[in-house]
Amino acid sequence: MSRTVAIDGPSGAGKSTIGYALAQEIDATFVDTGLMYRALTLAAVERGVDVEDGPLLGFLATECRIEVERPRPEQTDRFETVRLDGRDVTAEVREPRIDRAVSAVSRHAEVRDAMLEVQRAVAARGDTVMVGRDIGTVVLPNASLKVFLTADAQVRAARRAAEMGAPDRLNEYLAEIERRDAADSGRAIAPLRQAEGALVLDTGRLSVRECVESIVARLGDERA
Ligand code: DC
Repeated sequence: MSRTVAIDGPSGAGKSTIGYALAQEIDATFVDTGLMYRALTLAAVERGVDVEDGPLLGFLATECRIEVERPRPEQTDRFETVRLDGRDVTAEVREPRIDRAVSAVSRHAEVRDAMLEVQRAVAARGDTVMVGRDIGTVVLPNASLKVFLTADAQVRAARRAAEMGAPDRLNEYLAEIERRDAADSGRAIAPLRQAEGALVLDTGRLSVRECVESIVARLGDERA
């Protein structure tokens, strides 16, 4: 049977960095579900689809082709490549206009249903580390291991500012993170929640390596 690790947590908690390092370590496929929601949001923005129109967004989610794949060796700026109808949109989906709209797009039942199907199909192919907001609670409730990553909003904002090379914009990033935390945790369907039995790690206190080691150790315990 294949192993699946579900990693959830708020924006900027380090899910991608830790999830990717873990996937490398245990030789699993890494899937960042946030990228899929971002690609759909880009499709909606480009087509002028209203972010409040759940049925139309759900239709768009089944109509457009969203693919995540391993980057080429020279593409060191990313953990994954995301394509929208064949076009590489990996950089574009990180733009602020997508940050602003993605929570609204991802709160619709029609959108989540479409994504759920794709995400489960990917995880069924083999060992997978999947990161997002509802992976342990909804997408893969039978995951081999569930992990919840947290960190203080200040810590997450500072990380994001450093990542973007804009330490002077710390307050802007903090406001954006707090807004998205509230939207992702407060929505009716598949809100961000800690799954029962999840291994909780504070990435403000632990290094990436320490987190990966804790997860690998717990995976070993689960198998024993
Ligand atoms: O992880 P991220 O910041 O790239 O995710 C972008 C948005 O996508 C996030 O604000 C909420 C949504 N999302 C979601 O609703 N469910 C997931 N499993 C992953 C992301």
